Amino acid sequence: MTAPHENTVLVVDYGAQYAQLIARRVRECKVYSEIVQHDIPLEKLKSLEPSGLILSGGPASIYEKGAPRAHPGFFKLGVPVLGICYGIQLMADELGGKVERTGAREYGKTALDVLEKAVLFTDLPLKQTVWMSHGDTVTAAPAGFRVTAKTASSPVAAMESRGDGLYAVQFHPEVVHTPLGMDILKNFLYRACDILPTWTMSSIIEETVTEIRRRVGDEKIICGLSGGVDSSTAAVLVNKAVGDQLTCVFVDTGLLRAGEAEEVVETFGKHFEMNLVHVDAADRFLERLEGVTDPEVKRKTIGEEFIRVFEEVATQFEDAKFLVQGTLYPDIIESGTRDAARIKSHHNVGGLPEDMQFELIEPLRELFKDEVRAVGEELGLPEEIVWRQPFPGPGLAVRIIGEVTRERLEILQKADAIVIEEIKRAKLYRELWQSFAILPCIRSVGVMGDGRTYAYPIVLRAVTSEDAMTADWARLPHEVLERISSRVINEVEGVNRVAYDISSKPPSTIEWE
Ligand code: XMP
Repeated sequence: MTAPHENTVLVVDYGAQYAQLIARRVRECKVYSEIVQHDIPLEKLKSLEPSGLILSGGPASIYEKGAPRAHPGFFKLGVPVLGICYGIQLMADELGGKVERTGAREYGKTALDVLEKAVLFTDLPLKQTVWMSHGDTVTAAPAGFRVTAKTASSPVAAMESRGDGLYAVQFHPEVVHTPLGMDILKNFLYRACDILPTWTMSSIIEETVTEIRRRVGDEKIICGLSGGVDSSTAAVLVNKAVGDQLTCVFVDTGLLRAGEAEEVVETFGKHFEMNLVHVDAADRFLERLEGVTDPEVKRKTIGEEFIRVFEEVATQFEDAKFLVQGTLYPDIIESGTRDAARIKSHHNVGGLPEDMQFELIEPLRELFKDEVRAVGEELGLPEEIVWRQPFPGPGLAVRIIGEVTRERLEILQKADAIVIEEIKRAKLYRELWQSFAILPCIRSVGVMGDGRTYAYPIVLRAVTSEDAMTADWARLPHEVLERISSRVINEVEGVNRVAYDISSKPPSTIEWE
């Protein structure tokens, strides 16, 4: 589902991480931006009707065999183009300038001299610090271009051909190490492309609501609600659009954190007054998990049971035509082009019966995670939900190392609640990717009062991460570790020891199972 956008700036992806960062920065300038692959056919690119084009940086050298190129048509679209890093080299090479391996690599913070009046540097100082990372260097701009900035090693650190709407910089304006980078991007967007900054949270909500109403008409919709930020924001958006036509199904596995189920019921059922089906399936899940200790069997068992429960509930909604999913933009980028993602979205949804064909409503499919949070906040979702750390689908079951029992679940929930409370008290909750407790089912000896104890340890795990692909253990202050340890041991019966997991990912994973 794509709402119409007044202006879209397309970021052409030449690899590495740069394109996503550029798209996010453009959006921070309140201009809608999407990523396209560098080999996108020209006709396809035109059909997206961009108001501007940005060629991203990338790891390749234009001298490499098979290095990605810029379609010559990119420069004749009649819309402004900004080349960044690899992008300036492509533009220079394609249009008759000179790119050389001078051997003078520039990496890191570099002093930039702005040479003359230039659109990108409007109202900015002539001397700036920028972030460089390149091996090849543009040594001569193409005919018709003016060189607008240089550095000690880059005679063409920026260039423009205003009449043709072509602009380029060798440095990275999208990274925080280029302090005026956002101003340079704004000059491109607002001055070169002549776009107004109208893509705001309220405009996103308004456009999405209009689009959902148009698509859904008076049909019925169901939505699986987990209590995480994505499904919660998606549900509230759809509810705002079509109110009573939406029913949310919350499958309570009994494997959630302390107080989570109550919060879902309170927030959606009471506060937002949504149709909420709360399926208390804790007994079913615990029964299925009896005697299960193998992590993969555990995950599979929970996954299957979840689908079974959802399927049973869904049969009550056979007249529903749509199913809401909290798919985000990074999922779309990862699964290929917009087209591929759309085709996929018409397929049946994992595990539901063959004859139950829902059409998908994915109201967040154009948004990055931080944008989803901003939309959630704007819609009035509580802070606890908007800023909740990621939580695995199989829940606490993969944090109990061994068989899951009611007693162990209770111990873990209590310990976990203390961890979260103390991390929040130390104002570390938002900067940590995840912080939680694990219960390995072993026992060790301790002494409490006059008596010997033989009880469980709790392992504390706290990590920093950008995207969960890699993670580092958090250097928590000793006072915080001390408070958590002393509170968990004193307040949670059945625990006599707390250990801190100091492993990074890789080689460890974030979760223990
Ligand atoms: P690992 O343990 O593989 O976890 O380093 C990476 C991230 O994924 C989360 N995770 C899951 N999320 N369903 C989910 O929705 C799952 O089955 C699942 N398993 C792990 C984990 O919490 C971490 O953020």
